[in-house]
Amino acid sequence: MDDALMAQLKERAPGLAALFSAGSKAILDADDLAALEEARVATLGRKSPLVEMLRSINTLDPEERPVLGRFGNIVRRELEALVEAREAELKRAALDASLAGERIDVTLPGQPFPSGHEHLISQTMREVEDIFVGLGYRVAEGPEVELDYYNFTALNTPPSHPARSAHDTFWVREQREAMPEAVVDADRGVLLRTHTSPVQVRVMEQQEPPVYIVCLGKVYRRDSDATHTPMFHQVEGLVVDEGITLADLKGTVHFFAEEFFGGDRAIRVRPHFFPFTEPSIEVDVNCELCGGKGCRSCKYSGWLEIMGAGMVDPNLYGFVGYDAEKVSGFAFGMGVERMAMLKHGIPDLRLFYENDVRFLRQF
Ligand code: DAH
Repeated sequence: MDDALMAQLKERAPGLAALFSAGSKAILDADDLAALEEARVATLGRKSPLVEMLRSINTLDPEERPVLGRFGNIVRRELEALVEAREAELKRAALDASLAGERIDVTLPGQPFPSGHEHLISQTMREVEDIFVGLGYRVAEGPEVELDYYNFTALNTPPSHPARSAHDTFWVREQREAMPEAVVDADRGVLLRTHTSPVQVRVMEQQEPPVYIVCLGKVYRRDSDATHTPMFHQVEGLVVDEGITLADLKGTVHFFAEEFFGGDRAIRVRPHFFPFTEPSIEVDVNCELCGGKGCRSCKYSGWLEIMGAGMVDPNLYGFVGYDAEKVSGFAFGMGVERMAMLKHGIPDLRLFYENDVRFLRQF
């Protein structure tokens, strides 16, 4: 109520002015919604002095009626407006208080969510892959469930070869049992590939020379002890082009050894035998732990064996329709687990597959 109106009210209806003052004080003093409701009933309820007065206005002195009627209604509207305003104020305060109570401090550190990382075997495969991709090689793939033809026959491995025996190879049982004994070792046999070398044949079947590929993947053998697991990983490399010699193989392997193991490395080549290479070699890299003097990790030889390799046996070209007079090539194969063990000084192959995070998180 503005001051001018209040002054008029005091002068012409002092009783109403007093009701207004008391009522507005009760309304403004209410400090929660229940207290406000009480104040509203007391000042504006049906039994409040103001409302009773307005209700019985026609019993008043006819001269006072218009004044009391007009000012009474003004006072009632003013008090109603005050109740409404106070109610809004109290509701806002209650909302603010409950929001403050529920506030979340988003700067508090959350629950740490453990995140894993690539297994060392996968990391090692990526590393090897990157080195060869850097040399311009393509990454090739082949099936893990493989035909005898690709795993053995087309790799120059005759039916009498001991690697074909059920002793070393996981034959896919259904196929084996469905076949008469005479065909078990023939081209139609199905097995879990025992090496990544079958991809050599698959790649050559699919493209003309020049070939520069690496293949990385799982292989399976019936072995299980401290140094063998039934599943392990290999990297296969194949190069076929015009004029490829053993010198190219040695240069490539030397480059790879320095990239993978780091530093100035020496390689050593020893004669060996593989059915699909002629000549065949095994390649060693110098042991840096002992500087060649000999230690436990190099079995006191000063050298670490890293791969089998050789010049592609020209017989293989006959299986894939390459002209052995025009092209020559080399191939190599290595064990990924072995490479990781040599590089990181890991003593036991089984650590890779126990999946103890205390071991895994070191890499
Ligand atoms: N496939 C052979 C093995 O599993 C490794 C190997 C040796 C691969 C010589 C090659 C190679 O490509 O030329 O033992």
